Amino acid sequence: MNVQSYSTQPAQGIRGEIAVPGDKSISHRSIMLGSIARGVTTVRGFLRGEDNFATLNAFRAMGVAIGDDGETLTINGKGLYGLSEADDVIDCGNSGTSIRLLTGLLAPQRFYSVLTGDRYLRRRPMKRVVGPLGQMGACILGRDGGEKAPLAIAGRPLTGLEYRSPVASAQVKSALMLAGLYAAGETRIIEPHLSRDHSERMFRHFGAAIETGATGVVIRGGHELTGRDIIVPGDISSAAFFIVAALLVPDSELLITGVGVNPTRTGILDILTAMGGSIALLNQRELSGEPVADLLIRSSALRGIEIAGEVVTRAIDEFPVICVAAALAEGKTVIREARELRVKETDRIAAMATNLRAAGVTVAESDDGMEITGVERLGAATVESFGDHRIAMSMLVAGLVAAGGVTVHDVACIGTSFPDFFPLLEKVTAR
Ligand code: S3P
Repeated sequence: MNVQSYSTQPAQGIRGEIAVPGDKSISHRSIMLGSIARGVTTVRGFLRGEDNFATLNAFRAMGVAIGDDGETLTINGKGLYGLSEADDVIDCGNSGTSIRLLTGLLAPQRFYSVLTGDRYLRRRPMKRVVGPLGQMGACILGRDGGEKAPLAIAGRPLTGLEYRSPVASAQVKSALMLAGLYAAGETRIIEPHLSRDHSERMFRHFGAAIETGATGVVIRGGHELTGRDIIVPGDISSAAFFIVAALLVPDSELLITGVGVNPTRTGILDILTAMGGSIALLNQRELSGEPVADLLIRSSALRGIEIAGEVVTRAIDEFPVICVAAALAEGKTVIREARELRVKETDRIAAMATNLRAAGVTVAESDDGMEITGVERLGAATVESFGDHRIAMSMLVAGLVAAGGVTVHDVACIGTSFPDFFPLLEKVTAR
């Protein structure tokens, strides 16, 4: 295990202009759809994080030629049935998106696959995809009755399914959509709230037979996709750390350019704005079917709010850093209906409660959320990342406003989603 630590100290301002790296979700999907489309797909702005390389290496292992000139990826798509059997276990590392979406895509192939991941991923629930795929006719075995990786997939023909998902999960939805591309008939997925819709947008971009509406997403199987050019927008989930840093550190003004502002991802903006944050969306435009804007953030006094309902799904990855904002807001912030946070890269409710308490904040945990009472200033703290990139980055943001700073142990995990986090933070931090 890597135990490398990093410390941040109180800053005088967060200033200047940055662009954040490409969106992680869209980067994964570009490799997957590009590989099973016919013809060439080019991808610019691909996120060069470990999670996305796990997906890229999986497709190379299945015989897809993917060129990389350092700026643009060129994927020589092989068509729906052009993948070949990997001759070894496919290692998805820390990436839930890789393993769950690949499970859906590999279930209908004409070959056998085994998927695994690191010790954190091997603890995460897989039944949410293995269950409905089984109803489509898939043959997938895993530890704990199919709940845990490694997963062994004996590819076989599938039939379409109408599936009402108990959780709003883009990974579940996307796994079933990928399986649905191959299934006989129609596959319909209905979610309790609309989760991120990058798959729907990209399926459409590649010419899939897809319909979306109030009754869920419907895919008709058996239609080939066509290779496309994709420009990946900046990841709002990476921007989130800099947005909160600029709101909390006095005398800040930060412009983040080219951020994806897909409405299924902008819960963070709605939550922070409701807390009193000054965030302006400038220069709104569209890239490869995804809305994009520049964000201008100024230091703001924040107040506690209640967070529950559909906005939870639209901000699901941002709760660690929302907790940091809440810790410095006036009054209480109550987070409810966010049980999914317990099955992310780590249990993010428990991890943030532990870490904020170490910095002198009163936090009450509930089964599906937490209550955070804001303080004027955080205290010095030394905390663990729990192997979770977003916990690590959130606590390093906290250190920018903690008397005596914050030290985070085991920060190597930041490389899964944001390899350039440290130089970008250096660039905008005024001392
Ligand atoms: C993702 C979906 C979300 C999110 C994850 C990326 C995706 O997970 O937390 O970081 O790319 O589809 P769930 O589908 O489990 O909510």
